[in-house]
Amino acid sequence: MKLCVVGTGYVGLVGAAIFSDWGNQVVGVDIDAEKIERIKKGEMPIYEPGLSDLVVKNISANRLSFTTSLVDGMKEAEAVFICVGTPQSETGDADLSAVWEVAKQIGENLFGYKVIVLKSTVPVGTNEKIKNVIRENMKMSAEFDVVSNPEFLREGYSVEDMQNPDRTVVGSDSEKALGIMRRLYEHLGKPIVECDFRSSEMIKYASNAFLASKISFINEMAQICEKSGADITVVAKGMGLDSRIGPKFLNAGIGYGGSCFPKDVAALYKTSSDQAYDFKLLRGVMEVNESQKEHFVNKIVRYFDGALSGKTFGVLGLAFKNNTDDIRDSVGVEIVKMLRGLGAYQKVFDPQAMYNAKKVLGEVSIKYCLDKYEAIEGTDALIILTEWQEFSTLDLDKVRMSLKNQVIFDGRILLDRKKVESAGFTYFTIGKKTSGTELLDRRPAGTPGVILRNGN
Ligand code: UDX
Repeated sequence: MKLCVVGTGYVGLVGAAIFSDWGNQVVGVDIDAEKIERIKKGEMPIYEPGLSDLVVKNISANRLSFTTSLVDGMKEAEAVFICVGTPQSETGDADLSAVWEVAKQIGENLFGYKVIVLKSTVPVGTNEKIKNVIRENMKMSAEFDVVSNPEFLREGYSVEDMQNPDRTVVGSDSEKALGIMRRLYEHLGKPIVECDFRSSEMIKYASNAFLASKISFINEMAQICEKSGADITVVAKGMGLDSRIGPKFLNAGIGYGGSCFPKDVAALYKTSSDQAYDFKLLRGVMEVNESQKEHFVNKIVRYFDGALSGKTFGVLGLAFKNNTDDIRDSVGVEIVKMLRGLGAYQKVFDPQAMYNAKKVLGEVSIKYCLDKYEAIEGTDALIILTEWQEFSTLDLDKVRMSLKNQVIFDGRILLDRKKVESAGFTYFTIGKKTSGTELLDRRPAGTPGVILRNGN
């Protein structure tokens, strides 16, 4: 099949690479000329395991090319995929300006029959509106159909997820367009959910909101476990073995972040609110996620008796999760800001996100280090904020020799509590009683516990 993919972010670039790897002829389009030049040279604008090899392989096989011209890109295509960003606007809705602009240009340049496929995450009703925008901007008469085809890939695993999805969702009012989508996806041998536009759009929001709810649920359970003496890791394992619940997305921590969950949960809440429905559960999910990082920062503040000024912390992890350089809505970055606002100096390290983090955090009270041990050296405490595997294998003897103060705050339950405590550290984590929480419990009530919301 001949395909055009508009937008070269996580969904578009990975989509273009994988569609071409399946044997299709694909043109990727982006308005950012510098980005397109870099991709053509095999330099990926994002860190995504396996992506570079896939792009280079398919460019060499003449199945994949890139251009800044939408007109050229869509000329021969049977289907045009819209994969542009839909960030959160100030009102909590998704900002659809990029989607409308691409739809307008598609309309202006449409001739012959094409399927226009919307992969970007968009609120209910958008696919119907896209049809009108395309029609209103058409300069000559041409036939087209619209398909809603939401993407469920996770950053860091996008190549794997797109090659091997649990399901494909396609919403359309055209049997002809659904037939073309079947041709593209059928070979995967996975279920294809064919439905109307609105249900397809809603499946994407419902899936992300449900996963975010699972995380907020386990984070609230972690609070109760910590107070009652149960262990959240064991509780999550015991729950997850029930096949009705499943083990995934039950890792307690400092809360969810990233470019999708926070914006999609807020957008679904806004949609429900616009329909005069108060989605109470989602309100709770967002509230719990906000307070989770504050609970964690509070442990640090309480341990140091409210006096963070003059303290230096070794911070490991800035990306919103492991296996990515993405720091959009990263809880780790928020916590660094909160600690800085409270007067702390921080030595930070992330295996991939240093460049992006520096752009957002700047250099005030922050030193960017070359590796994890340099970040810890001579600091008052070690703080873990991202679930990178390489942080779970820290050499505790080396850590003990590097730290001034033998205390660890593990926001992702990465370390083995018993090993850390028997190595002599005061250990704080999420959802279990530890040497750290026992120490705080012994302190008299009224010990400072001030936190600063989103401080700089
Ligand atoms: C998510 C959805 O998983 C994906 O289907 C959708 O297409 C886009 O949004 P992504 O944002 O890449 O993907 O990351 P994901 O792996 O889902 O993690 C999101 C956040 O939740 C991260 O901050 C992560 O650290 C956190 N998380 C995840 C937890 O705190 N606990 C968990 O058990 C799982």
